[in-house]
Amino acid sequence: MTNEHCFIKALLRQPVDKTPIWIMRQAGRYLPEYRAIREKAGDFLTLCKTPELACQVTLQPLHRFDLDAAILFSDILTIPDAMGLQLSFLPGEGPCFNNPIRSSKDIERLVQPDPDTDLSYVMDTIRLVQEQLAGKHPLIGFSGSPWTLACYMVEGGSSKDFRIIKRLIYQTPQLAHRLLDRLSQAIIDYLNAQIAAGIDALMIFDTWGGILPGNTYCEFSLKYIQKIVKNLNTKLKKMQVPTIMFTKYGSPWLEEMMKTGCDALGLDWTINIGDARRRVGHRVALQGNMDPGILYGTASQIRQAVADILSSYGKGSGHVFNLGHGITADIEPDHVNILVNAVHEFSRQYHD
Ligand code: CP3
Repeated sequence: MTNEHCFIKALLRQPVDKTPIWIMRQAGRYLPEYRAIREKAGDFLTLCKTPELACQVTLQPLHRFDLDAAILFSDILTIPDAMGLQLSFLPGEGPCFNNPIRSSKDIERLVQPDPDTDLSYVMDTIRLVQEQLAGKHPLIGFSGSPWTLACYMVEGGSSKDFRIIKRLIYQTPQLAHRLLDRLSQAIIDYLNAQIAAGIDALMIFDTWGGILPGNTYCEFSLKYIQKIVKNLNTKLKKMQVPTIMFTKYGSPWLEEMMKTGCDALGLDWTINIGDARRRVGHRVALQGNMDPGILYGTASQIRQAVADILSSYGKGSGHVFNLGHGITADIEPDHVNILVNAVHEFSRQYHD
């Protein structure tokens, strides 16, 4: 039964016997078996759009490590792609949009995607993965936040200083809000379709909320995440679908983030998880927050970092172990095994 999974229980702050762990970007380039399938697909986007291959890649890390959840293999940029921006990934350069958003006309031209047709490859992947998992592990679905998607759509790809999107929000805020509104609706439809297709938990990635000052963050990012959370059919199935929201560099705003109604907050490594727990009390669960860089260290450094985070969180449920951001491509897979096993080994003493 899905609600027997300790990952789901921890998100709902129900008792567990060990702290669950999964890893952001757990299926990815650090795994040789991932690189082999990507090679076979030809490129990353084709891999995302081929359900049989995306399903295989989703399951790869579970074959190697004792992880407590699978995450759908896809990308946050599938929505802007379906809205007509023509996404490509150039080798070594990250994402690139052929048609970035630069004017109100560009916003009006956006397609409002129907997830069951325009993003049917994602729903097909979810159904395939769930068939294979057969209830043994829960599956996490996800989306980017409206703000984070807007950053990529307006900048045309990755950015160092976010000049174009900042000019948009400060010079023509009404245009920015129109774009964020369109994106929020697309994300609500997309995540509800993921729930209907069978995912067990949802995560909203707000990778770039932290580039904004607090009041601007609330106006351009958090407000829209709140609208999304409030419109999700998380009670569609017998089991509640818990929601996790993650704003990188968002730890100044944990109190505001809780008000979205999400079940858990993802933390990056810049905050002590014990301090975060004291601030959120019993209102939400916490996910995180080891610096991915520690995986470059020795086995004993990794085990010590795990012990420190578990002891800092302390006794009781409500913690899902993870990194503070995605695992990097040059990590030794054996180090991930050390991490996962240490979390399970050391965490039992914190649960009755
Ligand atoms: O976590 C998982 O294992 C699930 C799959 C997943 C990917 N991207 C696969 C991916 C998830 C949840 C994402 C989310 C995502 N994508 C985010 C939010 C999380 C974060 O990292 O902040 C963002 C900002 C993106 C956009 C994106 N996708 C960028 C900037 C890049 C290029 C960066 C890079 O590492 O090359 C990607 C590509 C991408 N998405 C890869 C993977 C495995 C690498 C593709 C490859 O070269 O094979």
